[in-house]
Amino acid sequence: MSTNTGDQRQRVTVHTLADKKRKREPIVSITAYDYSSARLADEAGVDFILVGDSVAQVMLGYDSTLPVTMDEMVYHSRIVRRAVRHALLVVDMPFGSYHTGTLAALENAVRLVKEGGAEAVKIEGGVSRVPFIRRVIDAEIPVMGHIGLTPQSVHRMGGYKVQGKTSRAIEQLMRDAEALDKVGVSALVLEGIPREVAIRITAEVATPTIGIGAGPDCDGQIIVYHDLVGLTFSSPAKFVRRYCNAGTLITEAIQAYRDDIRSRAFPSDAESYHLPRDVQRVLGESDNDSAGRQK
Ligand code: KIV
Repeated sequence: MSTNTGDQRQRVTVHTLADKKRKREPIVSITAYDYSSARLADEAGVDFILVGDSVAQVMLGYDSTLPVTMDEMVYHSRIVRRAVRHALLVVDMPFGSYHTGTLAALENAVRLVKEGGAEAVKIEGGVSRVPFIRRVIDAEIPVMGHIGLTPQSVHRMGGYKVQGKTSRAIEQLMRDAEALDKVGVSALVLEGIPREVAIRITAEVATPTIGIGAGPDCDGQIIVYHDLVGLTFSSPAKFVRRYCNAGTLITEAIQAYRDDIRSRAFPSDAESYHLPRDVQRVLGESDNDSAGRQK
């Protein structure tokens, strides 16, 4: 299997992300949930791979991230772990896995590390999550924060709406970002907020900020693999840039396969296995009577 970047690349750690912010080098990240996509992303040289709870919508067919379970996150994390050699592996803590208390947060974060191979976990929310996040960091597990449009808060937000559009909401976001920075998160995802607010947060905190729908001024960007390659079914959000349309390519390939089977063009004789000539001869003889006629 070829690799574009070679195997000499250093493994990315949470310290690499901090270094990149200091050196103003953009951080490249992608959400992936399975072996082939994670392996392609790792070989293409992304800095971190997130096993996001968006797996609920993208791969499991739910209409929000809320139903995905700890067991399902562990399952996807183990698969991605087997594919990733260089990138940092971050795994989302799903809805309900830290909302019920500090001990639950800790136990579930430990599961993602021990069973899923995570090197960091991501927790949505700001100031109110600080006690949980502190406990997880105290247990030697790096945490990534996530504020702004936090999909696990869809019911409180009343839908998937851009956040931080009033001065009150901006002040709350600033307080959230500063609290997460102070508690020591290793990176901070800023989702669905105005570019101007992302600029303020990125300038204010030492933590690297990772934008998704937050403009180009964050310290890094993240996008879902399936969105990037055009493998999703609904029309993409404004912030998604599709770099190819794999969905159309795959559909056309399957239609060509269907047509070839129906016209008996597939498989061809060259795509078939054959008996060795001597066996063919013996079989041919036994299929004929002594006068050479077919039985
Ligand atoms: O679940 C996910 O994919 C995410 C990213 C969009 C940040 O949380």
